[in-house]
Amino acid sequence: MKVLVVGGGGREHALVWKISQSKAVDKIYCAPGNPGISTLAECLDIGQEDTEALIRFAKKEKIGLTVVGPEIPLVNGIVNEFEKNDLAIFGPTQKAAEIEGSKVFSKYLLDKYKIPTADCIVFDNYDEAVKYLNEVSYPTVIKADGLAAGKGSIICQNKNEALTAIEDIMLKKIFGEAGDRLIVEEFMIGEEASIIALVDGENISYFSPSQDHKAIFDDDKGPNTGGMGAYAPAPIITKSLLEQIHAEVMEPTVRAMAKEKRPYRGFLYAGLMITAQGPKVVEFNCRLGDPETQVLLPLYEGDLFNEMLRIAEGKPIENKREISKKWAMCVIMAAGGYPGNYEKGTEVFGLEQGFDDGVEVFHAGTKFGNNGNVVTNGGRVLGVTAFADDYYSVRENAYSAVGKITFNKAYYRKDIGAKAKRHLAR
Ligand code: AMP
Ligand code: GLY
Repeated sequence: MKVLVVGGGGREHALVWKISQSKAVDKIYCAPGNPGISTLAECLDIGQEDTEALIRFAKKEKIGLTVVGPEIPLVNGIVNEFEKNDLAIFGPTQKAAEIEGSKVFSKYLLDKYKIPTADCIVFDNYDEAVKYLNEVSYPTVIKADGLAAGKGSIICQNKNEALTAIEDIMLKKIFGEAGDRLIVEEFMIGEEASIIALVDGENISYFSPSQDHKAIFDDDKGPNTGGMGAYAPAPIITKSLLEQIHAEVMEPTVRAMAKEKRPYRGFLYAGLMITAQGPKVVEFNCRLGDPETQVLLPLYEGDLFNEMLRIAEGKPIENKREISKKWAMCVIMAAGGYPGNYEKGTEVFGLEQGFDDGVEVFHAGTKFGNNGNVVTNGGRVLGVTAFADDYYSVRENAYSAVGKITFNKAYYRKDIGAKAKRHLAR
């Protein structure tokens, strides 16, 4: 079968890598892909949001399954368009993807079905939002309703910061239409974890629980990024806590989506805060996490492609998964300056050498330079990933591989996985 993967970041490199291991797959295309992906798939000069061109290509090449990585095409309704054209595609429909596309919708769903989350109030009027600030306690969290590339949630330490956030979102429209509405949300205290699963409309099959590292600097300091590293399994999520999360969050959410006539098929990602009162939802995503995917797929035993194809064909999930006994860790190498301004086009050295077994270097923001060399092309450049039997080996192997790769002003966090170590020490 021929497969088309939509996207071109580290998550999509890991997806293509995993799909390439399926016996059912003969050829993979990726739109637009990146230099790392091009070693496994044919990269296309089609943008991830160009639904019409993607449909034309899928028809012409008789693509057996299309798999969508990023949220924007999903929220824009790529799945509906493919299905209208009788093309098999894996991912949630537009109405189901709204679970990520609109924070107002996801908070409404959580409230209606009594799924634990932070209390919040929705505003579509600037003056009313500002007036409400007299009633909140700080820190408080202000979130734009729509998609904002992971930057739409602002934690405000005092009223002045909250005023600026509301002004930026509603008046200056720094996130565009995504800021037509906003929510003011209670600040939750706890440790975060990512619970990501395959959902077939009814049944849920979990990947290992994982943790992202959103802040740019060590010890979770500095502004948030797309994610500076990840590891799995996250020991904070014990087997019994995962059962509680299934019973109190994931299962009720999947049932609620079906009841709301938005049956959920695809990857479902719950960002959770593990608070003193138990797990609470921070947000839902309608896709795999980036960089969580880079650690989850190496740990996934079995044919993920087969499961995606079954779900796209309306069949139930075949395999229920257990928390992995093996470990994986991904360290993101970023361009210095990210998440602010940074240079592009810097040559990356050290990629051609063979890495040890159990090490994969997933490309994110890279492209080919003029002489066919690999150069930087984004903030997050590479996801250097190791997988092995224990935590200490993945940490050592991931950082040792990072040490073999260089580019001007390369930056990475030195403390990926430190939280796991604290739990393990207990
Ligand atoms: P989001 O855009 O909703 O994924 O939020 C981005 C990050 O902001 C989360 O990963 C949390 O670290 C933080 N955050 C969002 N909402 C809250 C909240 N209600 N309480 C505490 N932290 C939050
Ligand atoms: N790693 C966070 C995200 O993918 O949204």
